[in-house]
Amino acid sequence: MSIRLLNNKEEIPYNLLLLADETIEAIDKYISNSDIYVFESNNQIIAVYALLVLNDETIEIKNIAVSKKHQGKGIGKLLLDDCIKKAIEKKCSLLTIGTGDASFKQLNLYQKFGFEIFDIKHNFFVDNYPEAIFENGIQLKDMIMLRLVL
Ligand code: COA
Repeated sequence: MSIRLLNNKEEIPYNLLLLADETIEAIDKYISNSDIYVFESNNQIIAVYALLVLNDETIEIKNIAVSKKHQGKGIGKLLLDDCIKKAIEKKCSLLTIGTGDASFKQLNLYQKFGFEIFDIKHNFFVDNYPEAIFENGIQLKDMIMLRLVL
């Protein structure tokens, strides 16, 4: 098992990225400028995260996803630990991530890691996606922005 940078000759693992973001159009807005890291097990990519440098001090996790079959086994936490390590290596002092206002499992996970809410992008999911997105039986409206001070 290892986490490595995807090289630019390899196919972008949209199948996994689409677990965390609803449309390819939305993913394409950040993916070509992001570093994509993949988690492999038995030579198969089973998880991914994408990091985008926003400025000298801030780096954002634009996408993080574990294949459905492998969720709930600690891989998400492993990926978050690795994001933090990479952000520190890049000498950033803030790591940010956005999630849905009804994405309770994800909010819980990030807050357990020490991320704190610092902003709300009102109506982000209504304005930026062609169809309504539901999680936990609730329509996503706002994007909750969280940050971890490194
Ligand atoms: N139900 C509720 N909470 C769960 C859960 C489940 N089935 N599986 C995991 N969790 C929570 C727990 O709080 C757990 O912490 P704990 O072990 O201290 O209780 C925490 O998530 C981390 O568990 P882990 O096994 O490391 O998570 P994971 O490998 O499933 O990865 C995600 C977490 C969110 C990356 C993964 O579930 C995923 O890819 N989801 C779909 C894409 C997505 O929503 N990405 C994030 C977009 S903001």
